[in-house]
Amino acid sequence: MRILVTGASGLLGAHVVAHFSRKHDVTGTDRHPSWGDSEAPFLLGDLLDPEFLLRAMTAVEPEVVIHCAAMVDVDACEDDPLGAYAINSDLTGAIAGAAPEGCLMVYVTTDGVFSGDKPFMTETDLPCPRTAYGKSKLHGEWSAQLAGPDYLIIRTNFFGWSSGRKTSFAEWLYQALERQEPITLFDDFFFSPIYVSDFVGRLRLLIEGGHRGLFHLCGKDRISKFDFGHLLATEAGFSMNAVTKGSIENARLTAPRPKDMSLSSVRFERATRSEVPSCGAGLARFVGDRGRSLTRLRDETNSFLIMTSPRE
Ligand SMILES: NC(=O)c1ccc[n+]([C@@H]2O[C@H](COP(=O)([O-])OP(=O)(O)OC[C@H]3O[C@@H](n4cnc5c(N)ncnc54)[C@H](OP(=O)(O)O)[C@@H]3O)[C@@H](O)[C@H]2O)c1
Repeated sequence: MRILVTGASGLLGAHVVAHFSRKHDVTGTDRHPSWGDSEAPFLLGDLLDPEFLLRAMTAVEPEVVIHCAAMVDVDACEDDPLGAYAINSDLTGAIAGAAPEGCLMVYVTTDGVFSGDKPFMTETDLPCPRTAYGKSKLHGEWSAQLAGPDYLIIRTNFFGWSSGRKTSFAEWLYQALERQEPITLFDDFFFSPIYVSDFVGRLRLLIEGGHRGLFHLCGKDRISKFDFGHLLATEAGFSMNAVTKGSIENARLTAPRPKDMSLSSVRFERATRSEVPSCGAGLARFVGDRGRSLTRLRDETNSFLIMTSPRE
């Protein structure tokens, strides 16, 4: 398949390019230069520029667009909601509109579309975002849906190694634990994160399997930020001595965070006959992959398919 990956220099997009390039004809695009060791073609430019968007679509003529470009800083979105809507929602509509007829639009979105009042939200639960980020991403989901029947909308929360231009939560945590810096982790804020490499392998199952519609794709476990830190410290052999337990109730954050962002991935598991990983297994791979180049990350796809005998 000819695949165009937006946000290809970001945490997720770079992993998507490296993984999908093994089997498909992939082009990445971003407003920052590409990183990593992938040799996939790359188009540098701002997708908010309609001329650049059209040029990219004409050059690639994609059969699939995996749309990872977004404004992801939750507090920055709260300070600039119009900017958040322009990138997370309007741009999604523009990309879907500019894509060739019949092109599959894959929109990666967030657990932050829910209010965070109960655990393991499913695809049939009603979204009710609390933050400008969550609201703009929910509008982005609608923009992707309105473009036509060929869409996949994937709600997730992932962790992994990035280019280092921006530091993700797990990278910040790893560095703080390694240096024994005093940090506070909330024990009353829950999520169900998946290692980015585990995510892209499963995303490939959805795309190659011809699935369409809305899926939650996260890790198996609902875990607090404190316990996530504890698991990471255990996997990496770091001490938790400098870590203090805290409450999100006492945090002074610009955007009001939902308290329980965990998602159920049961619909994904049933549709693809595969399993999502535990948080511990993902963190073990995260620690093991530190410093490894993107194209040398292991493809674990076959190991999470549930094999059943023909008689079953
Ligand atoms: N990280 C998570 O845990 C998480 C959780 C749930 C959902 N998601 C979703 O997953 C997707 C990828 O997230 P990520 O963490 O990989 O984000 P990221 O690292 O910030 O990557 C996004 C990339 O897109 C670029 N971009 C933004 N606007 C652009 C534009 N107009 N033209 C060209 N490039 C543009 C960004 O540049 P700038 O840095 O300059 O903006 C950045 O390089 C997003 O849709 C996000 O909402 C992420």
